[in-house]
Amino acid sequence: MQDKIEKLREKALKLIEDVKSSEELERARVSLLGKKGEITGLIRSIGKLPPEERPLAGKLLNALKREVEEKIEEKRKTLPKVRKVKIDTSIPGRRPKTGALHPLTRIEEEIVDIFMRMGFSVEYGPEIETDYYNFTALNTPEHHPARDLHDTFYLEDGNLLRTHTSPVQIRVMEKKKPPLRIISPGRAYRFDPFDPSHSPVFHQVEGLWVDRDVSFSDLKGTLEAFGKELFGKETRIKLVPHYFPFTEPSAEVHLSCPFCKEKGCRVCKYTGWVEIAGCGMVHPEVLRGVGIDPYQWTGFAFGMGVERIAMLRYGIDDIRNFYENDLRFIEGLR
Ligand code: PHE
Repeated sequence: MQDKIEKLREKALKLIEDVKSSEELERARVSLLGKKGEITGLIRSIGKLPPEERPLAGKLLNALKREVEEKIEEKRKTLPKVRKVKIDTSIPGRRPKTGALHPLTRIEEEIVDIFMRMGFSVEYGPEIETDYYNFTALNTPEHHPARDLHDTFYLEDGNLLRTHTSPVQIRVMEKKKPPLRIISPGRAYRFDPFDPSHSPVFHQVEGLWVDRDVSFSDLKGTLEAFGKELFGKETRIKLVPHYFPFTEPSAEVHLSCPFCKEKGCRVCKYTGWVEIAGCGMVHPEVLRGVGIDPYQWTGFAFGMGVERIAMLRYGIDDIRNFYENDLRFIEGLR
C-alpha cells in the first residue's frame, strides 16, 4: 500500500506540474480528487485493508490529499485567470437599432388624432363579423354584388371577415343613442389579388356623425378640414357622386393630388385628383334598422383607406411594401 501511495504521489505531482491552462488544471483535480478520482478511490479502499495496516494508510493518504490540494492551489496562482482579449478601441461603435411604429400604424394614429381634435371618439369592432352586421344591417340586400364570393372571405361557420369597417357603425348605433360622433380604425379583408394596388388585408378608418340636422355640407366641411390637416392648407376635396347601399346620397372623396398640386402627375394618373374614401348621408333604412328615427336624426358616414393615404403621404406606388416587412423599406420611411 505504501508503495502504491508513493507512486500515485509522484504521478499526481507530475500531472500538476505539467498543467498549462486552468482547464487542464481542473481536469487534473477531478482525476485525482473528484468523486471518481484516484486518491479518493484509494481512501475509500482503506476499509478493505487488514485492520493493522489501516492507521498508517489513512495517515499517508490524508497527507497526500492535503499536499495535492496545496499544489493545485499553488499552480492555480501561476496560471493566467482569463485569456487576454485584445480590444481595438479605434473600431467605430455599432449603433443598436431602435424600434419604431410601422408606417401604417403611424398614419392611422395621425388620422385618429385629427378626428379626435374635431370631437370624434374612437370605437372598435370585431374583424370576424356576421353577415348581418357586414351586409344586411347596412342595407345591402342579398343579391348585391358586394356579397359575391369573390369579394368576401367566408368562414366555415357562416361568419365572415369584415369587408369594411362600416359594421362598426351599426354596432355603435345599436348601443348608443344619438348624438354620436365616432371614428373606428381597423383592418378589413377582401378576396383580392396581392398586387401593387390591392392587398387581401387592408386598413380603414370609419367615421360616423349622427345628430339633428347633420347635412351633406357638414360632411364636406369635415373631410376638407381633415385633408388640410393631413396634407397642408392648399389641399382641396371633391365629392364625386357614387353608390353605396348604406348611404344616400353617396360620394367618393377625391383629394387634390399632394404631389403635383392638381397639375397632373404619375401618382394621380394626370387627373390632379386621387380617391381616398367613400362617404355619404346615412341611409334612412339603416337608421330605422337600429331604432333611430330618420325624421328626427340625420347623419353622415365615411370610410377611408389608410394604405392609400399612407402611399400618398410617403410617395409609395406599391401597397405590398407595407406587408413585406423589409426593414430597408420601413426604416426609409421614418
Ligand atoms: N364602407 C365603404 C367601403 O368600404 C366606404 C363607406 C363608408 C362609404 C361609409 C360610405 C360611408 O367602400
